[in-house]
Amino acid sequence: MRPTQIPKTYRVKSFGCQMNVYDGDRMAELLAEQGIQPAAEGEDADLVVLNTCHIREKAAEKVYSDIGRIVKDWGREDGSSPLIAVAGCVAQAEGEEIMARAPAVKMVVGPQAYHRLPEMLRDAAAGKRVTDTDMPAETKFGALPKRRRSGPTAFLTVQEGCDKFCTYCVVPYTRGAEVSRPNADLIDEAKRLVESGAREITLLGQNVNAWTGENAKGQPIGLDGLIRELAEIPDLARIRYTTSHPNDMTEGLVAAHGEIGKLMPFLHLPVQAGNDRVLKAMNRSHTVESYLRILEQVRAVRPDIALSGDFIVGFPGETDAEFEDTLKLVDAVGYAQCFSFKYSPRPGTPAATMDDQIPLAVMDERLQRLQTTLNRDQYAFNKASIGKTCDVLVERKGKHPGQWLGKSPWLQSVHFTGEAQVGDLVTVELTEAGPNSIAARLLDTVTA
Ligand code: 5AD
Ligand code: SF4
Repeated sequence: MRPTQIPKTYRVKSFGCQMNVYDGDRMAELLAEQGIQPAAEGEDADLVVLNTCHIREKAAEKVYSDIGRIVKDWGREDGSSPLIAVAGCVAQAEGEEIMARAPAVKMVVGPQAYHRLPEMLRDAAAGKRVTDTDMPAETKFGALPKRRRSGPTAFLTVQEGCDKFCTYCVVPYTRGAEVSRPNADLIDEAKRLVESGAREITLLGQNVNAWTGENAKGQPIGLDGLIRELAEIPDLARIRYTTSHPNDMTEGLVAAHGEIGKLMPFLHLPVQAGNDRVLKAMNRSHTVESYLRILEQVRAVRPDIALSGDFIVGFPGETDAEFEDTLKLVDAVGYAQCFSFKYSPRPGTPAATMDDQIPLAVMDERLQRLQTTLNRDQYAFNKASIGKTCDVLVERKGKHPGQWLGKSPWLQSVHFTGEAQVGDLVTVELTEAGPNSIAARLLDTVTA
């Protein structure tokens, strides 16, 4: 691309969490609205947006090496070069440094400012280097184009930011304070997603269960109220939400799991560690006991609920015995699937400067033990599902002829062979468990 041209094609590369996937999709829609086309598979794009993640490990370094690779691979005979934009949480945290270190980057845009991409593009095409890491009071959502396309599963960001300030976490600094999107906007976006093909919507937020809003009568409602309203959308078959904080797990939301058929039996409720001293040092504001009590309440109303969580091993000062408590907690819960990470010091967070940082070798060993246990439990959960009849939402074709892939209500990957198409909700019998997926026999196609 010559410097004075608006790009004709784009590619958005998203790293990290599902909220980044959502943001990446919305940026793509915004670019498409400007008449810029997605670059074809395997083709160079005129504009590359790196939608970055800052939550763990050398994420910023990965961005610099990606930039280096794009510049190196770009060898057009006419000497043109792509416009590189860095978006997401690394942009927010290290915008100025990126501009100083990577001359190839022409645009830096934070997660709350990407609705301004079109203006920024015009400036960048005119040869300027532009940075926008504002966190404006008016949210970007109103300025984004309406949703027009969707696959069978869609994300819907309902809440952003975090006020919890866990001592290891960078999110409150990169994504800002907790903000809930208004109920009416969400219902409208959900209806559009359903009209354009979505059968399952996953509500997203860094603290999704901290969402608050008002119903049509102006009465305050929580996430359970929003889920109840969404469940009224006739062609929407499934609702999920992620990620939740134990302290925002209200009675209403727990009850919703027993009352709303469209709310899938799956709860991602990160605990992070299984020891109260560590949880306190993390500023988690819940205890092992209060966490387990919530799980008990949810299981009481929805006995088949699949539980999921996040864990950090090697938080500063974590002793061997304290780590053993994490394994005990895992044994007590019996998770269906989990994410687990080595603690990674994030610049600017309180834990980064705490004494007694844990050596990498110790963290490696702890992570391996934890993951062995979690994998064992995931496999056990899958095996325990065998013989059940359930719905699967078909998401895509499998590798083998006639094979289809989708998800069970408990978010297991399921594969089966037979007459179906993407977007079908089919009834299957789960027949054979693997550690990461389940084979099934097609019984019936419920709806096309
Ligand atoms: N180091 C390791 N893991 C982290 N997470 C957040 N911050 C860090 C960090 N500094 C993990 C937590 C969180 C998930 C999204 O990422 O487990 O729930
Ligand atoms: Fe980070 Fe804690 Fe907020 Fe989750 S609750 S985003 S871990 S500060």
